Amino acid sequence: KILILDFGSQYTQLIARRVRELNVYCEIHPYNHFPELDASVKGVILSGSPCSVRDADSPHPDLSQFRGQLPLLGVCYGAQLLAQTSGGEVAPSKIREYGRAMLHSDDANRSVLLQNLTPESQVWMSHGDTIVTIPDNFTIIGSTETVRVAAFKIEGEETYGIQFHPEVTHSLEGKEVLKNFLVDICGCKQEWTPANFVEEVVEQLKEKLGNDKVVMALSGGVDSTVAAMLIHRAIGPNLYCIFVDNGLLRKDEFEQVLHSYQDMGLNIKGVNAKEQFYTALFGLTDPEDKRKAIGRSFIEVFDQEAHLLTDVSWLGQGTIYPDVIESVSVKGPSATIKSHHNVGGLPDFMKLQVIEPLRTLFKDEVRRVGRELGIVESILGRHPFPGPGLAIRILGDITAEKVAILQEVDAIFIGKLREKGLYNQVWQAGAILLPIQSVGVMGDERTYERVVALRAVASVDGMTADWVHLPYEFLAEVSNEIINRVKGVNRVVYDISSKPPATIEWE
Ligand code: XMP
Repeated sequence: KILILDFGSQYTQLIARRVRELNVYCEIHPYNHFPELDASVKGVILSGSPCSVRDADSPHPDLSQFRGQLPLLGVCYGAQLLAQTSGGEVAPSKIREYGRAMLHSDDANRSVLLQNLTPESQVWMSHGDTIVTIPDNFTIIGSTETVRVAAFKIEGEETYGIQFHPEVTHSLEGKEVLKNFLVDICGCKQEWTPANFVEEVVEQLKEKLGNDKVVMALSGGVDSTVAAMLIHRAIGPNLYCIFVDNGLLRKDEFEQVLHSYQDMGLNIKGVNAKEQFYTALFGLTDPEDKRKAIGRSFIEVFDQEAHLLTDVSWLGQGTIYPDVIESVSVKGPSATIKSHHNVGGLPDFMKLQVIEPLRTLFKDEVRRVGRELGIVESILGRHPFPGPGLAIRILGDITAEKVAILQEVDAIFIGKLREKGLYNQVWQAGAILLPIQSVGVMGDERTYERVVALRAVASVDGMTADWVHLPYEFLAEVSNEIINRVKGVNRVVYDISSKPPATIEWE
């Protein structure tokens, strides 16, 4: 595997993704928390950073543990750190070094790191400092018009530095640079594949869990499903899954998802807890109060169910890598390390050990592993759906009647998206029931009924989002269908706000 030492760059995760895309396993670690090095570590990458190596309080870890012993690649800040700590000089750039640049590398003594690159290769620069002088044992292996030391090798060791960012797609041959480093310099085999991951993790789970029992709450979403299937492969019926109907799911979702879980062979119990959730939500209108009531009810239900099982010692969870690294990444020079609790307030008395088989995977890798495990596309390709469900899409208080109306509206909207082949072009979509009524006319009669909003967004990770320009004809068809078929709704509007400044959900 490859270790990536994180100095807090916004691109660190992207380096990891690129390495994984090359089928090499890697891990991100904060620069001040080196893991134990063992024979499985084939090389180290130093990330970029928002800091400047010239600042006294910027990260300056002791790299002697691996420098000279393992191949090392410094990217941006990482490269400047190598130069500075080896006796070179780093100074503020005189010319802005942001954006595209052409990297020339010398054909005659082409370094392995830059082999197979075109002689003028587009790279992406993003740095305020630059390396101005280098020690004698450094060889420049690539330059751009304004950056003389764009890429270097330290002689006598397999240590390299590049001031451009190979991980961003604007560095057109960046992946080639990473591949050269991983395969030809570190000697990694490109064997990190979903099939190998499944095999390895199932072995590890078998060893760790033995005959122990595991309980797990499934949500119908991708992460919890894939995590459950991995554990199931390892321990079969010793995995007890619970799927709760909180009365806030989409139309028919409970039955459909429960069936697909049963088809997958999971030992699953569906729990109808609708009334318990509606009671807890009764009369609440404040979004935060609603969320808290739902969270509490969920823990109560889960606890009741878990107590019906005997000798369970583990709690399975679908935590994925971004949740884990978010919590240990370097936040500025002070490097505060928070520990992350994805266990949404699980009560202490449950005293279960947590098992998280997807802790090392990115979302797209979870899907690939899911495919490898034979999970149906209808689960793997699902839009994200919030834990509090339709409760945060019904503004104001929650009643069974309002849920039923919204379920119909949502089913029409999502059904049409699927029918017209638009579902997969949208990252997330849903309908919102507004707490107002409007006047309409149907036949000869005046109506005074509810208004619903439709929302469809494009996003990568939910952190930012754009509203999707769905075709007018499509929106017209959906609107007609909703107003004609859902009793109590006489007006449909389309949400054209982006995040930020709006959010995806309305509450
Ligand atoms: P916002 O509304 O914050 O939503 O832009 C971003 C993404 O997060 C989902 N979301 C939630 N998911 N529990 C969840 O599991 C929640 O309380 C929750 N609130 C929002 C939302 O659906 C979107 O995908």
